[in-house]
Amino acid sequence: MNLDLEELSAWHGTGGDRSSVLDRVSIALASGALGAVLGPSGSGKTTLLRTIAGLHRDASGVIRLGGHRLDGLPPERRQVGLVPQDGALFPHLTVAENIDFGLPRTERRGRRTADMLALLGLTPFAKRLPHELSGGQAQRVAVARALAPAPRLVLLDEPFSALDATLRAEVADGVRAALDETRTTALLVTHDQGEALSVATQLVVLAEGRVRQTGIPSEVYAMPADLWTGRFIGDANVLDGESDGAVTLTPLGALPHDLGVPGPVSVLVRPEQLRLTATAHTSARVGASGLARLTRYFGHDGLTEIALDSGEVVLARLGPDAFPAPGARVAVTVDGAVRVFPRHHQSYPPER
Ligand SMILES: Nc1ncnc2c1ncn2[C@@H]1O[C@H](COP(=O)(O)OP(=O)(O)OP(=O)(O)O)[C@@H](O)[C@H]1O
Ligand SMILES: [Mg+2]
Repeated sequence: MNLDLEELSAWHGTGGDRSSVLDRVSIALASGALGAVLGPSGSGKTTLLRTIAGLHRDASGVIRLGGHRLDGLPPERRQVGLVPQDGALFPHLTVAENIDFGLPRTERRGRRTADMLALLGLTPFAKRLPHELSGGQAQRVAVARALAPAPRLVLLDEPFSALDATLRAEVADGVRAALDETRTTALLVTHDQGEALSVATQLVVLAEGRVRQTGIPSEVYAMPADLWTGRFIGDANVLDGESDGAVTLTPLGALPHDLGVPGPVSVLVRPEQLRLTATAHTSARVGASGLARLTRYFGHDGLTEIALDSGEVVLARLGPDAFPAPGARVAVTVDGAVRVFPRHHQSYPPER
């Protein structure tokens, strides 16, 4: 079912303490899509899910699921499954009983529960109590319980946040497969940019209750709508530049771009766009030169700090065989298109 939010606003508090938490949020999610809402802590992600589920009532705007309006309906009539931020399993019920909980009495202990157990790899744990499960198993039970009644929409509130990196990827893959198999539209919230980029078919960037940008993950990464979003998603070098409308002079040399407006700009260069070559001395042909410093090693690659002769420090992403020795002199050039923003776009919190 496709989900359409139109100008959804929400408030917390009462009287003089009532304050805006969501500000005219509009999101369109195609049927079967997995949307990820990515935003810093306190940006309104949980409030957004609770508003869609009907649990947060101080709200305005239109919520449509499969074209039918949900706002105004009580939570139990929305057919929306919510996996809350803490999972919230019933401690005195077994795994199978937890999954049964949302099903009509006639369907309990039946086919559906067995299917959900199998789908999320939980069959061997059916008779265990929540305290006998690992964190990842418990989170999969919470997802199975939400999927069991075949909701038209599943909302997941940071479902993998308690897991370590390896388990997180594994559980995320399992949940994504389960959503695909049941063709359920889902909206997941997270403040982990890696998770959002890797699991989502559509990304929504939320800051202070407002949508900053929506798009497919690769598009948002490559073409962030503003500097804040570019920095929030992935690693970024941000340099001051002076643009003549087509080329910007930066500490990394003259970089072409398509901003079109001359003046002071901020230039966003991803670490993987930097190319290093060994150099004995500075030549006029290279964009810039400097000294290699520390490398943050990630296994498959690493980020090496380069202290440019101009004083700026930039990060270059390099393969594990390409790290220069600390103190080595390197020439730095930029590969591919850079993003350029008028300098005032740096402001955060977002302009109101
Ligand atoms: N019950 C409440 N009463 C008053 N203010 C609230 C209440 N719940 C949340 N808020 C405020 O609303 C804002 C958004 O909260 P919300 O829980 O939606 O953020 P979030 O994006 O889910 O954050 P996190 O990543 O930390 O879970 C915050 O400023 C928070 O302090
Ligand atoms: Mg939250």
